[in-house]
Amino acid sequence: MPFARITGTGFYVPPKIVKNDDLKAFYDTSDEWIYERSGIKERRFIEGELGPADLAVPAVQLALKEANTDFESIDFLIFATLSPECWFPGSGCFLQEKLNPDSNIPCLDIRMQCSGFIYGLSLAELYIKSGKYKKILVVGAEVQSTSIDKTEEGRTVGVLFGDGAGAVVVEAVEEPVGILSTHLHTQGKYAKELWVPEPSSMRSPKVNPDGKGLFPYMNGREVFKHAVTRMIEVINETLNYNGWKKEDIDLFILHQANSRIVETISKQLGISMDKFFVNIHKYGNTTAATIPICMHEAQLEGKLKRNDKVISATFGSGFTWAGAAIIW
Ligand code: ACO
Repeated sequence: MPFARITGTGFYVPPKIVKNDDLKAFYDTSDEWIYERSGIKERRFIEGELGPADLAVPAVQLALKEANTDFESIDFLIFATLSPECWFPGSGCFLQEKLNPDSNIPCLDIRMQCSGFIYGLSLAELYIKSGKYKKILVVGAEVQSTSIDKTEEGRTVGVLFGDGAGAVVVEAVEEPVGILSTHLHTQGKYAKELWVPEPSSMRSPKVNPDGKGLFPYMNGREVFKHAVTRMIEVINETLNYNGWKKEDIDLFILHQANSRIVETISKQLGISMDKFFVNIHKYGNTTAATIPICMHEAQLEGKLKRNDKVISATFGSGFTWAGAAIIW
């Protein structure tokens, strides 16, 4: 049976830096409030009309280069996003056209929000281990700056999100390394604790005239509580499944929703923050893109090396959560 290893990582964020104080243009807020509660100092916003597929192109190119391969060698493209260009088709179709208009490989969009990247990684793992495909691109990319409520009502959610893209190449290898296991969960009874209700196929017209349904609603405290509990659960599930001890892990790469969530998990697990990669201060929450962006930056910073033992975990809207054990 082949094993599924990540052989290339890449990321891209748009050049426009938006500092916490810049958000005072829309909100009654402050750098202190945002940083204290979330760990965010700045995020990136697109300028002009760009979609997640546009941001994904340079991220994919970097990942392909690092994997020493090209798009023509890829068998399957998996694209995780909650901020697609349009109602349909999926962002994967747009990305394929940008990478090679003559390509006809399958492109699959995943709508699992902050958990989208690990859900995608899970599919890549299993398609490769089954022998069906040999090289798969898994992309997480978001343009969220255009979908946040820039009136006072939107300030609690609006300060958290940023735009960005990350990508990895997952390849069939013979050695028993790479993605050892993935563990996925959903609890739909909490769907409306963090959601964007519109546009809705339940009615016509699909959008209410006040336009408010197009903006994310979040029950922040409930999300915080569940994020901590569920990520700890899935980290333990992932460790136990592989017979790993938490002390053996070289790096934990968690979804970057809020650095306070990561700090609480570190404290409750009794593992030093040095073992957790954090870059939310630079990019905010880029939803499906946070984990592949972390993977790339952790390598650049020398915090993630070949054969390191890695646990990745995430939590997000749905509620959905997931974990992965990786020998890098
Ligand atoms: N600037 C200044 N003040 C604000 C802002 C703001 N942007 N937003 C809210 N406030 C005020 C509120 O009006 C309130 O004022 P009051 O006490 O006078 O009524 C006060 O700050 C506290 O508001 P809360 O909503 O209770 O703030 P809380 O301490 O819960 O922090 C936060 C909010 C940061 C969203 C927190 O609940 C949280 O981190 N939740 C986790 C959710 C998360 O990380 N989501 C990310 C997306 S989901 C995901 O990726 C998993």
